[in-house]
Amino acid sequence: MPEFVAAIDQGTTSTRCMIFDHAGREVSRHQLEHQQIMERPGWVEHDPAEIWVRTVEVAATALASADLKTDDIAALGITNQRETTVVWNPKTGKPYYNAIVWQDTRTDKIAAALERDGHGEVIRAKAGLPPATYFAGGKLAWMLAEVDGLRAAAEKGEALFGTIDTWLIWNLTGGRNGGRHITDVTNASRTMLMNLETLDWDDELLAIFDVPRQMLPEIRPSSDPNLYGTVEPRGLVAEVPLSAALGDQHAAMVGQVCLDKGDTKNTYGTGNFMLINTGEEIVRSDNGLLTAVCYKFGDAPATYALEGSVAVTGSAVQWLRDQLGIISDAREIEGLARTVEDNGGVYFVPAFSGLFAPYWRSDARGIIAGLSRFNNKGHLARATLEAICYQSADVAKAMESDTGLALESLKVDGGVTNDELCMQIQADVLGVDVVRPVVKETTALGAAYAAGLGVGFWKSPDELREHWAEDRRWTPESSPEQRAAGHEKWHRAVERTFGWVD
Ligand code: G3P
Repeated sequence: MPEFVAAIDQGTTSTRCMIFDHAGREVSRHQLEHQQIMERPGWVEHDPAEIWVRTVEVAATALASADLKTDDIAALGITNQRETTVVWNPKTGKPYYNAIVWQDTRTDKIAAALERDGHGEVIRAKAGLPPATYFAGGKLAWMLAEVDGLRAAAEKGEALFGTIDTWLIWNLTGGRNGGRHITDVTNASRTMLMNLETLDWDDELLAIFDVPRQMLPEIRPSSDPNLYGTVEPRGLVAEVPLSAALGDQHAAMVGQVCLDKGDTKNTYGTGNFMLINTGEEIVRSDNGLLTAVCYKFGDAPATYALEGSVAVTGSAVQWLRDQLGIISDAREIEGLARTVEDNGGVYFVPAFSGLFAPYWRSDARGIIAGLSRFNNKGHLARATLEAICYQSADVAKAMESDTGLALESLKVDGGVTNDELCMQIQADVLGVDVVRPVVKETTALGAAYAAGLGVGFWKSPDELREHWAEDRRWTPESSPEQRAAGHEKWHRAVERTFGWVD
């Protein structure tokens, strides 16, 4: 058996390939950014062709830089930004439209109409999701209505729908020459089109969104030796078994070995995503959380999760860099925030995509509240870090209310966890320890784990538990009174974002 497993992590702002050994240690990585196309307020698109090219490049470079050949790779797993929607022509391999990204709010009227027309309850009950701009179903409905000739093409079998996993798998397995049109249960559970109980596309949901079934991919387990076949020769990972795919937050659950009921993690990427494993039980939220499939390994029953998704966290730091120019590198935010003692009364609610969990307000837009002439860019930097943490604290509270379980500590991962100040603020705001593992790239690691399980590289999920090791722990330094006062101000600022767009 070859000694390594590879993962491709196709994220919102970049694509990376990572290679791991049997102990779950990183052996190699390469990462490339792709263009963010924002032609109108609220619109965010990606070029699917660029994403495919970047995927090929990062895989080839990750292999070459560790002096590895495809024969050294036992399996490949895919993990991806979820909900981002692609529709392409299987004969030409060309997309009909740019990918509409999960952050894009152009479908706010579709989401509002679903609620107004009384479909909200069915979507909640069957798909576990509230009607919102976030999910793929509305984006697909928008494309079918707005892109010339697309509906007719879809009805003739000349248009395929996919989230990014599906797009990459189709290309990796041959593209126009017989590429496989497949998704996994976790990605399918973010479309508003899959029934959480049957784990299949649901006719009633398809009718609500008016989506032709023939354009949808086959739904497969997240990990399976026969899952997706082998990667076709393109000089990168040819003939390697493609044995896993799962949405990035679900992969991070696996990478953090949150494999037992009650296990919880929070990933800090462009957004923050906190998930709790609910075992084989489909738990419905009364507090604005989503129900999704956590993962499904082969023939074993699906494991479910409750999720609190926050749209804008790391991307608020990018906004300070790209739109305001007050930092030139995202890593500078920590130094800038440390130039001030506290937030100076400033609260920043980065509701750029409306507000996701637990509020689900498409009509919200960002606000900076509490400014006085005293304030400077250090206060804004600090308020941005606090916004990352307060948003996750709101989600943690919703999770405690839904499950009746008090959070004892929080496992964290993702790029922002390198920011010591941000993690200290998170511990202070939550009032519990925040714990980071040695391997912070848990998303790629989880995809590699799922792929390795699929081909027997690892024999069982239990083997993976031994790999998890604590790297760093932050303990709260705030008093309960300080916490309460901060939360109260934060919530006053949040309320001011509501109803900004009609
Ligand atoms: O639901 C969106 C999420 O999957 C995006 O993750 O890591 O690209 O911010 P990330």
